[in-house]
Amino acid sequence: MLDKIIYIAKEAGEVLRSGFGKNFLIEYKTNVANLVTEYDKKSELKIIEFVNKEFPTHSILAEESGRHDSSSEYLWVIDPLDGTTNFAHGLPIFSVSIGVQKNGEMICGVVYDVMRDAMYSAEKGSGAFCNGRKLNVSTNDDLQKSVLVTGFPYNVHENPDNAYERFAAFLRVARAVRRLGSAAIDMCYVAEGVFDGFWEVSLNPWDMAAGKLLIEEAGGIVTDFSGKPMSIFDKQILASNGKVHESMVNVLRIE
Ligand code: IPD
Ligand code: CA
Ligand code: CA
Repeated sequence: MLDKIIYIAKEAGEVLRSGFGKNFLIEYKTNVANLVTEYDKKSELKIIEFVNKEFPTHSILAEESGRHDSSSEYLWVIDPLDGTTNFAHGLPIFSVSIGVQKNGEMICGVVYDVMRDAMYSAEKGSGAFCNGRKLNVSTNDDLQKSVLVTGFPYNVHENPDNAYERFAAFLRVARAVRRLGSAAIDMCYVAEGVFDGFWEVSLNPWDMAAGKLLIEEAGGIVTDFSGKPMSIFDKQILASNGKVHESMVNVLRIE
């Protein structure tokens, strides 16, 4: 199954690459910050047609078209374009993210970083890889020497879950904090040991499904802000190399 997910993630990525930098239709979703382009939809259609053909009994949860239910134990969780704002503004940081659950447990995860042609993949119990290279989280255990990454929801102006305060708190203690604009890529870089930790609020399952498995398979941990286990349907995510996790939980402890 992993080979097939990799195949279709790459195909969807080619669709995005073909549209990047061109003139395309952009619509607003919930507000002026929350965009969807015709390429989000084209990429999603390509993936869904593939799943329906190759795995006709499987269920699908996809960002643009929602839930396609069947009684299958398998669920495909699909973000056809993670980083739509970057894509729409011509910034080459965006990805295709596909995770597959079996009976509610993540079994496969693939993130394709399109413009770097970097294919991140993980299968439960078999490690995480990028273009065939095995991934390991960083070994740094000092938050002051950490480079962290985060993102903000489209309603950040309402400061959900103290997003501003938590961002400011990490800026005060970490070596640096980055904001790339694709949660799936943020999580790949944690799995790869580039970033030591990642946190965000109000993400959706399709943003996190593949990334969570990639980080866990690379030796990292993924929890809620208090350090408790989280599912991809939860609203807080804290992911790290494990070694700076407790320090990050302490910073996130803001009421
Ligand atoms: C967004 C990106 C971004 C994150 C937002 C997400 P989209 O996904 O992952 O990094 O900060 O919260 O909604 O809309 O580009 O698929
Ligand atoms: Ca997304
Ligand atoms: Ca998306």
